[in-house]
Amino acid sequence: MAKKPQVTLHPTKNTENENVRASMIALLQTHLATAIDLSYSAKQAHWNVKGPNFMSVHLLFDSLHEEAEGYVDSIAERLTALGGQAQGTVQAASQNTVLDPYPTDLVDSMGHLKRLADNYARWGSALREGISESDEAGDDLTADLLTGVGRGVDKSLYFLESHFQTE
Ligand SMILES: [Fe+2]
Repeated sequence: MAKKPQVTLHPTKNTENENVRASMIALLQTHLATAIDLSYSAKQAHWNVKGPNFMSVHLLFDSLHEEAEGYVDSIAERLTALGGQAQGTVQAASQNTVLDPYPTDLVDSMGHLKRLADNYARWGSALREGISESDEAGDDLTADLLTGVGRGVDKSLYFLESHFQTE
């Protein structure tokens, strides 16, 4: 897991406990960074993939990018709704993501499918931890957001894995 992101708390009439808000903002920052990282990992695959199934994976990777962009916005706006300051730059994302750097020299379609599947599985695991953490903190609304994202991430992992699993 990446280091704990720095937390800024802006004044708000949001009645959630301040300590809970601070811990949820740090948690959401990690997931915001990971969503940004994954969104451009999918674009990297979309732009560079080659192979016999080119068009279908080219389009799949673009749809994964668009889905991840949706997660970026939802996570950032939950974070700011709690009084946080979103760290949404590429530089901040690279500091806070839970993912290993996506290879920039990868071409082969099966390589991209397997590498993206690794990333989705890793984020899915971090999301399950985040759901437990927000649940234990008593922030049902953050737990609900991460649950929705986690459901989408599991589905995307299934789409990716279906290209190389036969049982
Ligand atoms: Fe494109």
